[in-house]
Amino acid sequence: MPAIAVLPGDGIGPEITREAVRVLAALRPDVEIVEAPVGGAALERGLPPLPDETRALCARSDAILFGSVGLPKYDGAPMAQRPEAALFALRSGFELYANLRPVRAFAGLEAASSLRPELVRGLDLIVVRELTGGIYFGAKETRIENGVEIASDLMLYRAPEIERIVRTGFELARRRRKHLTSVDKENVLDTSRLWRRTVLRIAPDYGDVRLEHLLVDNAAMQLVRRPAAFDVIVTENMFGDILSDEAAVITGSIGTLPSASLGPKGTPGRQFGMYEPVGGTAPDITGKGLANPTGAMLSAALLLRYSLDDETNASRIERAIEAVYTSGKRTADVAAGGAALSTAAFADAVIAELVA
Ligand code: IPM
Ligand code: MG
Repeated sequence: MPAIAVLPGDGIGPEITREAVRVLAALRPDVEIVEAPVGGAALERGLPPLPDETRALCARSDAILFGSVGLPKYDGAPMAQRPEAALFALRSGFELYANLRPVRAFAGLEAASSLRPELVRGLDLIVVRELTGGIYFGAKETRIENGVEIASDLMLYRAPEIERIVRTGFELARRRRKHLTSVDKENVLDTSRLWRRTVLRIAPDYGDVRLEHLLVDNAAMQLVRRPAAFDVIVTENMFGDILSDEAAVITGSIGTLPSASLGPKGTPGRQFGMYEPVGGTAPDITGKGLANPTGAMLSAALLLRYSLDDETNASRIERAIEAVYTSGKRTADVAAGGAALSTAAFADAVIAELVA
């Protein structure tokens, strides 16, 4: 029996994860679902951000369905006592180096975008973000020297780390529109020069994929100028963090975006992975029934696709959500001031579509 560890976390995490779990349970009653505390929810109970029992549950599960972690009350706390520490422990502990963030504009939601509708129409890209290296995991230091406070974060990459994520990008592009954009800052950073050399070295293995290099500042600009022209974007950890929020919000709401974080464990279709909406904890709307569960439900779809080898139900979820948007139903974030459904009512509509 497949087993999924559900870690709802903080803020809107629990309320959107609940809806994703309802969707999963409706389609796959055979899947065992076990919930565990993480992030602020663990800290509140006097536990570390990633309790041992939660980690052990993840280790014996086939996949992790994650909500979100982080709360304003922990701003300024040392990293080990912040909810986000759980995220880094899971990413590095399970070597989840490949973070896939598919960004699609749902038909009918173009008006909710901050860009003109004609720029957003047809937007269908995927950001492939390196997730276990770079400045997030390099040595960190804060010290005082001659009475002056100094802080440093090391950005370090090994060629094999770059190679495996770039190959993930090429492989994905090959199955899509065969266009890969590699993003770096090779005019300034040594890590980016190694990145670019590595991309060029392995590119001949993927002669059928059109390769383009963009500097990260230019990439940020092109994303708002011609978002629909991108297919697969591959980049290092922090650039990917920034560009994926930018790409996501162009669709109208960051609440609609899912993600998959995959590692070396397993075989294609049966990979161990962690699945989470990109949107964050959104403390300002927590508990009000305003959150959009789309990103969480689409994350459940990715879980079925990549960890449970269940393409049929993955695409059923995606089609059901699309149909609900096409029928005009909206949550508040994308309602543009019009009528809006609550988090649970929107999920009810998706489930009704699924069992129809
Ligand atoms: C993300 C988030 C995290 C990150 C935060 C919560 C630490 O922004 O998953 O994109 O920066 O990786
Ligand atoms: Mg982010």
